[in-house]
Amino acid sequence: MWLYLAAFVGLYYLMRWYRERQVVSNLRDKYVFITGCDSGFGNVLARQLDLRGLRVLAACLTEKGAELLRNQTSDRLETVILDVTKTDSIAVATQWVKERVGDRGLWGLVNNAGISVPTAPNEWLTKQDFMKILNVNLLGVIEVTLSLLPLVRKARGRVVNVASVLGRVSLYGGGYCISKYGVEAFSDSLRREISHFGVKVAIIEPGYFKTAVTDAEMISRTFREIWDRASPEVKEVYGEKFLVSSMKMIELMKKQCTQNLSLVTDCMEHALTACHPRTRYSAGWDAKFIYLPLSYMPTFLVDAMISWGSPRPAKAL
Ligand SMILES: NC(=O)c1ccc[n+]([C@@H]2O[C@H](COP(=O)([O-])OP(=O)(O)OC[C@H]3O[C@@H](n4cnc5c(N)ncnc54)[C@H](OP(=O)(O)O)[C@@H]3O)[C@@H](O)[C@H]2O)c1
Ligand SMILES: *[C@@H]1O[C@H](CO)[C@@H](O)[C@H](O)[C@H]1NC(C)=O
Ligand SMILES: *[C@@H]1O[C@H](CO)[C@@H](O)[C@H](O)[C@H]1NC(C)=O
Repeated sequence: MWLYLAAFVGLYYLMRWYRERQVVSNLRDKYVFITGCDSGFGNVLARQLDLRGLRVLAACLTEKGAELLRNQTSDRLETVILDVTKTDSIAVATQWVKERVGDRGLWGLVNNAGISVPTAPNEWLTKQDFMKILNVNLLGVIEVTLSLLPLVRKARGRVVNVASVLGRVSLYGGGYCISKYGVEAFSDSLRREISHFGVKVAIIEPGYFKTAVTDAEMISRTFREIWDRASPEVKEVYGEKFLVSSMKMIELMKKQCTQNLSLVTDCMEHALTACHPRTRYSAGWDAKFIYLPLSYMPTFLVDAMISWGSPRPAKAL
């Protein structure tokens, strides 16, 4: 009985492995537009796809980032400046993409640009703090997608959205987790709607990786700034010790970060080049073995585990 079961499971994985290895044809004629290519995953992906022979249209936030990327890649890779929070900037970039792809349409759209601060307990923050992250990570993704979708439909292409494990488990306050839950929700409804036209939507859920968004110094600095301007009431109920413990947690997170960004960009590449891309990709050991299981557990267990690992406010009952 167990032998049959093992054989069945083995067969399933063998078939899945074979199915996922099928690659789409004519990769060299396919255009892929990536946001946030100045650094991190976007930067690595742009160079990786350029090496693979795809036509990369890399959107950078800064001219310096764009120039550096062009210096490191083939002449086939082109760059454009894009701030995903600005409607005008998106319109200009869309026109620029249209001129390049023409009747072929856009094969791939990778919504990668994102920020991670200000992050702190909800009570310490203002509406503006939430808006700052949501504007980039959620509304930016939505507006860029709406603007480029007609071109993706033309190519019967792919939309690849970078969410996070924090789009499955809301570990802390502020706009970040909310924005990633939003990206998951947007991607799910979009996938169901747009599949009618042969367009596939994939969601990337990385764990913690060593990039600018997980830079411990930057996160600690903004955390302290928020503390400094918090109300006397907040300072009293949380207490200085909470701040110190939180800083230690941020340092701990730094050690947890995976160094090899290819684990994430390989998922993105698969989502763009495989005949049968997955709906969700989890990247990194922490994503697979901690956060993914956590996201399937009952809420009371997750609450207990998170509370066990978090600092306690001074006036906690
Ligand atoms: N690192 C992780 O552990 C992790 C885990 C899960 C998900 N993610 C997600 O992965 C994505 C990429 O982040 P990353 O880790 O590679 O960090 P990153 O190196 O900071 O990359 C983010 C990129 O987005 C750009 N950007 C910021 N604001 C922008 C805006 N308004 N318009 C256009 N571009 C903008 C940044 O430009 P500048 O460099 O010029 O600021 C940067 O190039 C993000 O969506 C992030 O939330 C990261
Ligand atoms: C890019 O390369 C050019 C010519 O080789 C050089 O002048 C320029 O400084 C380089 N830019 C960056 C940002 O490295
Ligand atoms: C990073 O991961 C990729 C793919 O998983 C692997 O091929 C590569 O050797 C790794 N690089 C390093 C430096 O460990």
